[in-house]
Amino acid sequence: MYLLLWVWSAFAAHFQFTQAGNGKSFGSIATSTFGPNDSVLRTSISNPPINLADQQFIEDFIGFLESLNNTLDHNGDPSVKVVIIASALPTYFIDTFDIRLFQAPGPINNYVNGTEVLMRFWVLQDLLNTLPQLFIAEVDGVAYAAGNELIMNMDLRFAGPGSIMGAPESVCGVLHVGGIQHLTSLIGPGYANQYMISALPITGPRAAEIGWVNEYYDSSEELTSNVNSFATRIASLPWTAITSNKDAIRLSGPTKEDIDAGKKVFFSLVTLPIVQECVTRWLAAAGGNDTYVSDTAFQRNLLTELPKIWAANATS
Ligand SMILES: *[C@@H]1O[C@H](CO)[C@@H](O)[C@H](O)[C@H]1NC(C)=O
Ligand SMILES: *[C@@H]1O[C@H](CO)[C@@H](O)[C@H](O)[C@H]1NC(C)=O
Ligand SMILES: *[C@@H]1O[C@H](CO)[C@@H](O)[C@H](O)[C@H]1NC(C)=O
Ligand SMILES: *[C@@H]1O[C@H](CO)[C@@H](O)[C@H](O)[C@H]1NC(C)=O
Repeated sequence: MYLLLWVWSAFAAHFQFTQAGNGKSFGSIATSTFGPNDSVLRTSISNPPINLADQQFIEDFIGFLESLNNTLDHNGDPSVKVVIIASALPTYFIDTFDIRLFQAPGPINNYVNGTEVLMRFWVLQDLLNTLPQLFIAEVDGVAYAAGNELIMNMDLRFAGPGSIMGAPESVCGVLHVGGIQHLTSLIGPGYANQYMISALPITGPRAAEIGWVNEYYDSSEELTSNVNSFATRIASLPWTAITSNKDAIRLSGPTKEDIDAGKKVFFSLVTLPIVQECVTRWLAAAGGNDTYVSDTAFQRNLLTELPKIWAANATS
């Protein structure tokens, strides 16, 4: 009897897990819908081993976002009203932009032009900033650099016990382009200076205290169930509750001009020898072009490890 129960619950857990991918899939992004008239959409991001924001992942994400307005309900409103962005991997939410793309085009990325991939990443951020749906980040893993930029461009952030966030950019002398303006409006200039210039990481509990995320839950199950019920509550209200409030809240900034000014600064810095040296040392510290995309202690503890590339004995 107990054995049967155990077997059944293992099966049920598995079924629930595979259910998460039973909607439409966009490459590395599986989706499923639930709630009133299936108007809440949950994503399950799987670009193993580290959910690196590489070229294909960026295109998958853009394809997914561009699909959101495609189906309308009986009122002519988008049928998906609330979107939960979550990872399928236990240790990573979304990791950094593929930093190999900051090198001159070479065989590693099939001679792809990194500047153009970066511009596509900014198209992705613009979509998150302009689509009418409510975007909720459910962060329960590593969200460094690109990962943190993406959650900053969503509307709300909820964090679980695995969450660790931050911006390594200043280790290379550049800014957390695309994320720093939203972060500053959330946590204020004092904390923004503290975390952005030092590249220190932040975990869920502290992030919730200073407003980097909305709430922290110390169990992953509690995180998911609270996010689901919050999303369902909102999806059962009139659609204009989302659009009218979002429009008013967005007036507090940052504006597109503020964000674009940061991109200009980023481009003026990224070709400097010191920045290129940083990328070379970063890749060497990560084990080289191939080993870089691995779930290693270096990758998990990136913001603790990366500043060591400037230690006196580091070699390039
Ligand atoms: C769900 O859709 C039906 C018809 O398509 C509509 O009558 C109903 O009001 C919708 N429910 C909600 C909560 O939007
Ligand atoms: C999605 O639809 C809204 C109107 O509901 C519109 O304002 C917006 O421009 C559309 N966005 C995209 C990317 O199609
Ligand atoms: C990594 O790849 C880049 C671009 O293909 C190349 O220039 C660089 O020499 C490679 N580095 C190593 C350590 O192989
Ligand atoms: C990469 O793309 C950018 C933007 O389109 C362009 O300005 C630059 O010249 C390209 N670089 C190379 C090496 O082709």
